[in-house]
Amino acid sequence: MTESSMDTTTTERTDAETTTTATETTTGESDERTNPAWREYSFPGDPVLSIEDLNVWYDDDHALTDISIDIPEQSVTALIGPSGCGKSTFLRCLNRMNDRIKSARIEGTVSFNGQNIYADGANLVELRKRIGMVFQQPNPFPKSIRENVAYAPRKHGDIERGLVPKLLGREDVQKEDELVERCLRDAALWDEVDGRLEDNALGLSGGQQQRLCIARCLAVDPEVILMDEPASALDPIATAKIEDLIDDLAEDYTVVIVTHNMQQAARISDQTAVFLTGGELVEYGDTDQVFEDPESQRVEDYISGKFG
Ligand SMILES: Nc1ncnc2c1ncn2[C@@H]1O[C@H](COP(=O)(O)OP(=O)(O)OP(=O)(O)O)[C@@H](O)[C@H]1O
Ligand SMILES: [Mg+2]
Repeated sequence: MTESSMDTTTTERTDAETTTTATETTTGESDERTNPAWREYSFPGDPVLSIEDLNVWYDDDHALTDISIDIPEQSVTALIGPSGCGKSTFLRCLNRMNDRIKSARIEGTVSFNGQNIYADGANLVELRKRIGMVFQQPNPFPKSIRENVAYAPRKHGDIERGLVPKLLGREDVQKEDELVERCLRDAALWDEVDGRLEDNALGLSGGQQQRLCIARCLAVDPEVILMDEPASALDPIATAKIEDLIDDLAEDYTVVIVTHNMQQAARISDQTAVFLTGGELVEYGDTDQVFEDPESQRVEDYISGKFG
């Protein structure tokens, strides 16, 4: 910890914030008081997502504690930390996927472009179009490659396909072809599936299925893509393709990715948030700084493999 970070804490923070308690620790994790200055990260421009005092419980289990973090646009933010520290829970809060879990209770605010997504009357369908999600296990629909990409735009009426538009002569065949090709190209899958778009998606390899899921996510024109360990079920070559893809996607989208792979986080992300025991965000900052010169001893121990 540097002296300047201590100074920031003592001068800028309230008593309540500076007395963050030392949390219960897992085996090998050193006892340490968290310093709020370790989570301070400034970047140019407005955050696309701004999370304030987020707390999540599953029944009585407090899974996330007072998380406040701003996420910059068009960049890759990595979330790392040991199993059970709340990374997936946090990710799911960003597009209200936790709403589907009955025992989950959420407090705090998550602002997306300045609007609290937990405000009454928020449109969840629209929210999940704008903030898409890719899961650990590729989960394509048991339909053709084309239909996987076109399904949501058809469902939302962005593309008119089916019997009624056909009878009315308003079928968007060309529009759909263009969209499917664009999304598959953007997901770096086009060259491998061109010419077999009518094949069942379940016949693709795991890595191809995952890129198809990314293409499906892109088809509704999202702004943010949440990824929960998207490459952990893949071999090294498929993983490398996903990593290259994420790098490209960050030119147009905001990517927030959970990964257990430290090298992956270091390679692909611009900033890294480290969650530790007790669902606490311990450190957040520029990825190079977090990996090369972390302020928290526990973060250093975690990154160097001493626990977790
Ligand atoms: N659906 C759920 N119902 C009840 N408890 C849950 C649920 N999902 C997560 N939890 C609990 O919340 C805590 C955080 O879990 P979470 O899955 O967010 O951790 P994680 O950091 O993603 O872990 P991993 O790295 O293993 O995926 C854990 O104690 C977990 O048991
Ligand atoms: Mg998880």
